[in-house]
Amino acid sequence: MRVSTLAIALLATASSALAVFHGVPRDTDEFRKKHVYITPPCEEDRWFVQIPPSKNDTDDVSDFFEQGLRIANNGGTLWLLEGQTYIIGKPLNLTFLNDVHVRLEGTIKFTDDTKYWQANAFYHPFQKSLMFWKWGGKDIKIYGSGTIDGNGQRWYNEFAGLEILSTGNTYLRPILFYVENATNIAIEGINYKNSPVWNNFIVTSKNIYMHDLTIVAKSNNLSALPKNTDFFDSLNIYNLTVERVWVNIGDDCFSPKSNASLVHVNTMYCNGSHGQSMGSIGQYAGEKSIIEDVVIENVWLLNGDNGARIKSWAGPNVGYGYVNNVTFRNFWLGHVDYSVQIDSCYFNINSSTCAKYPSQVNVTNVKFENFYGTTSGKNGRVVGKLSCSSSESAVCNNITFVNYNVTSPCGGPPVVACDGVKGDTGLKCVSVTSDEYKAALKANCTSPQVTLDKRPW
Ligand SMILES: *[C@@H]1O[C@H](CO)[C@@H](O)[C@H](O)[C@H]1NC(C)=O
Ligand SMILES: *[C@@H]1O[C@H](CO)[C@@H](O)[C@H](O)[C@H]1NC(C)=O
Ligand SMILES: *[C@@H]1O[C@H](CO)[C@@H](O)[C@H](O)[C@H]1NC(C)=O
Ligand SMILES: *[C@@H]1O[C@H](CO)[C@@H](O)[C@H](O)[C@H]1NC(C)=O
Ligand SMILES: *[C@@H]1O[C@H](CO)[C@@H](O)[C@H](O)[C@H]1NC(C)=O
Ligand SMILES: *[C@@H]1O[C@H](CO)[C@@H](O)[C@H](O)[C@H]1NC(C)=O
Ligand SMILES: *[C@@H]1O[C@H](CO)[C@@H](O)[C@H](O)[C@H]1NC(C)=O
Ligand SMILES: *[C@@H]1O[C@H](CO)[C@@H](O)[C@H](O)[C@H]1NC(C)=O
Ligand SMILES: *[C@@H]1O[C@H](CO)[C@@H](O)[C@H](O)[C@H]1NC(C)=O
Ligand SMILES: *[C@@H]1O[C@H](CO)[C@@H](O)[C@H](O)[C@H]1NC(C)=O
Ligand SMILES: *[C@@H]1O[C@H](CO)[C@@H](O)[C@H](O)[C@H]1NC(C)=O
Ligand SMILES: *[C@@H]1O[C@H](CO)[C@@H](O)[C@H](O)[C@H]1NC(C)=O
Repeated sequence: MRVSTLAIALLATASSALAVFHGVPRDTDEFRKKHVYITPPCEEDRWFVQIPPSKNDTDDVSDFFEQGLRIANNGGTLWLLEGQTYIIGKPLNLTFLNDVHVRLEGTIKFTDDTKYWQANAFYHPFQKSLMFWKWGGKDIKIYGSGTIDGNGQRWYNEFAGLEILSTGNTYLRPILFYVENATNIAIEGINYKNSPVWNNFIVTSKNIYMHDLTIVAKSNNLSALPKNTDFFDSLNIYNLTVERVWVNIGDDCFSPKSNASLVHVNTMYCNGSHGQSMGSIGQYAGEKSIIEDVVIENVWLLNGDNGARIKSWAGPNVGYGYVNNVTFRNFWLGHVDYSVQIDSCYFNINSSTCAKYPSQVNVTNVKFENFYGTTSGKNGRVVGKLSCSSSESAVCNNITFVNYNVTSPCGGPPVVACDGVKGDTGLKCVSVTSDEYKAALKANCTSPQVTLDKRPW
């Protein structure tokens, strides 16, 4: 209700770019003030387990951690105390969980012995993922005001200059929170700090509820950015809700991958991200992947590459599938390169290879509704780019815009490109081969970033 009131207020005062961002929290403190999360009182029907905290940064308490969860399992709560740090220095297989809570008020922190973790972390073949630990089972809740700290600086430094998806990359980094085969899992209130790579990877799980979280990955080294620190990735999930999340990272703000259905995201703030992405999907040869029944709403995207994005792989050895019934609604953009994008030539392939081996992923029934704000000007007056697959067998239809008002800082008419989209989009859009598009791309302007840490916006 509050959000729709805000939307009406914005429409009334949308005469300046500043007004668009009025009331948006600019840091985690303001986020917590705006969206107050109160740690629920201890439930009387559960028993509580405490473990000894670490005495220093090398005092690995992972054995206690696992024992604590075993004792708390089947109806209890592991309580990690405020002001204490719990160092995890070896991989933990926590897939035995059943009706267990973790009250996280202190900090769980991973060691940064990069060589050790690369040799010993769990491995998932999807994009060669490593994981510090594995969580799984049913009726799991992690809640509180505490922090999971990935201790990522050394990982950022050592990864500098590399590319995660390049076939030659052998420098793998562990995901901060990994879940496999879980039913009914809730993660609430906590803070994720400096993950080496993705923050969450949820596999083959259902009924997932993540809310009131902050996710921050910051490097103190300008030549070693916190790359690929996505907030959320998944495979094979059903029924996910994400609410009230503040994200300041480098990569996708939210990006379910193969096989996600019934997904609802409401109220996210993303700085420095690659946007709200569906996929990438269709990466692996012969494999079917789908994403379906998704609503993403009330999203503020600042200083990033994309707003709403759908990405599917093309090339000689890729998969197939579809993205269907996705609504992106109420997006506010500031200094974002493209407000909307369909990229059917993922990842990094040139246009002739893409034309020869186009994506086999259908994209249908997608709505972009109530988009406001200004792009970065990186693409001139081009503010959005929908490039559907050129394959005759991959359909791309019923892609519509309702109330789309995104402008370019270069001034002049903003241009949206649509290629391969069947039917009326509800918006005038042009082909990338048109003179209008080429002229818009040439518009040359720069604009300042939206500052998060200085008043006023
Ligand atoms: C679109 O947004 C601009 C400011 O970014 C505003 O001046 C204009 O009135 C808006 N147009 C509509 C139709 O809402
Ligand atoms: C850290 O604490 C552990 C456990 O008390 C101790 O064995 C170790 O010597 C301490 N290391 C440092 C560097 O203080
Ligand atoms: C994790 O533990 C479960 C038993 O709880 C076992 O079946 C599984 O093989 C273990 N996984 C790994 C990767 O060690
Ligand atoms: C998945 O979890 C359920 C319990 O929630 C268990 O019965 C089943 O064996 C697990 N499957 C795998 C493949 O681990
Ligand atoms: C910053 O990262 C670069 C690239 O890896 C590295 O060469 C340099 O030593 C790092 N600086 C610090 C202070 O760690
Ligand atoms: C989805 O999961 C939530 C818990 O997060 C549950 O309350 C709800 O009933 C589930 N919905 C469906 C359709 O399974
Ligand atoms: C927001 O993201 C931009 C782009 O990545 C970055 O330069 C800026 O430092 C971020 N702001 C804050 C407060 O972290
Ligand atoms: C997605 O689901 C399809 C079945 O529809 C299955 O063949 C495929 O292996 C699944 N993908 C993943 C990554 O598990
Ligand atoms: C589209 O997805 C939404 C959200 O999950 C769902 O409520 C709706 O029923 C779906 N529409 C169709 C036609 O399946
Ligand atoms: C994609 O759409 C075409 C045309 O409707 C259909 O024949 C094909 O089966 C669809 N692909 C998938 C994976 O659903
Ligand atoms: C087009 O997609 C929207 C959802 O984005 C859906 O509500 C509508 O029914 C679809 N129209 C047709 C003709 O399928
Ligand atoms: C844009 O303008 C800058 C400075 O005004 C200039 O250096 C740059 O070459 C221009 N770029 C293009 C693509 O025209």
